[in-house]
Amino acid sequence: MQIIRSVADLDAFVGRALQQGKTIGLVPTMGALHAGHISLVERAVKENDVTLVSVFVNPTQFNNPDDLATYPRKEEDDFRMLAEAGATAVFAPSVEEMYPEGTQSDHQFELGTAAEVMEGKFRPGHFQGVAQVVSRLFRLCRPTRAYFGEKDFQQIAVIRNMVASEHIDVEIVPVPIKRADDGLALSSRNALLTPEQRKVAPEIHAALKYSVEYAKDHSVRATHDTVVERINAVPHMEVEYYEIVDGRTLLPVEEWSESPDIVGCITVYCGKVRLIDNIRYK
Ligand code: PAF
Repeated sequence: MQIIRSVADLDAFVGRALQQGKTIGLVPTMGALHAGHISLVERAVKENDVTLVSVFVNPTQFNNPDDLATYPRKEEDDFRMLAEAGATAVFAPSVEEMYPEGTQSDHQFELGTAAEVMEGKFRPGHFQGVAQVVSRLFRLCRPTRAYFGEKDFQQIAVIRNMVASEHIDVEIVPVPIKRADDGLALSSRNALLTPEQRKVAPEIHAALKYSVEYAKDHSVRATHDTVVERINAVPHMEVEYYEIVDGRTLLPVEEWSESPDIVGCITVYCGKVRLIDNIRYK
């Protein structure tokens, strides 16, 4: 597996692959890789001639400096896991290499209403930062397909909007959430949980799963409330938001009959660690 640090080397690598008529699968990550990321890489390896993985903790998508400072970084382990999974190359640039003109940008991406709700409301500027780095990665890596985990359900919708408004020709491939045996969605942030918090964190998925049955004979509002009450009753846990939304627009629904595609999206603080998850109702 080739390790690429500079934009010039990346450009040469991508140019060679395209000249040979190869398809490129891109897996954008912020490192601290786990089995969820590896499932994206394995899918990309199956579907493309070349699999390129980016490992870059993007400062412009963090609205909380402590969150950026404590974000786990494990480059050596990441590279070993990527080589084992069959990645062709990893692009792991410095902040200066990625943003030679600085991280500030006047460009406002058109991300639609999907970027204004939930994460967009609680993390101002987050999706502009995601769009900034992902659009730059797309322009540099020129992928045929790009792979994103469905744990970040809203991120996928926002990236689809960015691709449309920036006229970027790439297929966005969503990959199902990977869970630990006890149901906790795999996330780099799980490494920050204390043993006590890790023990209770699976309650997020348990509450969501239970709510799918509950929803069969209860209203959207009652289903929402049962999830929030159950999770808030667990020590260390506090729901930041739980929204039951149309899976395409990400706008809240009030009745189950409103849409054929309904998803519940949740963010929970487990101690100081912010965990997200989602579940499909329809
Ligand atoms: O989902 C992530 O890990 C990040 O938001 C991404 C897509 C790699 C952009 O930094």
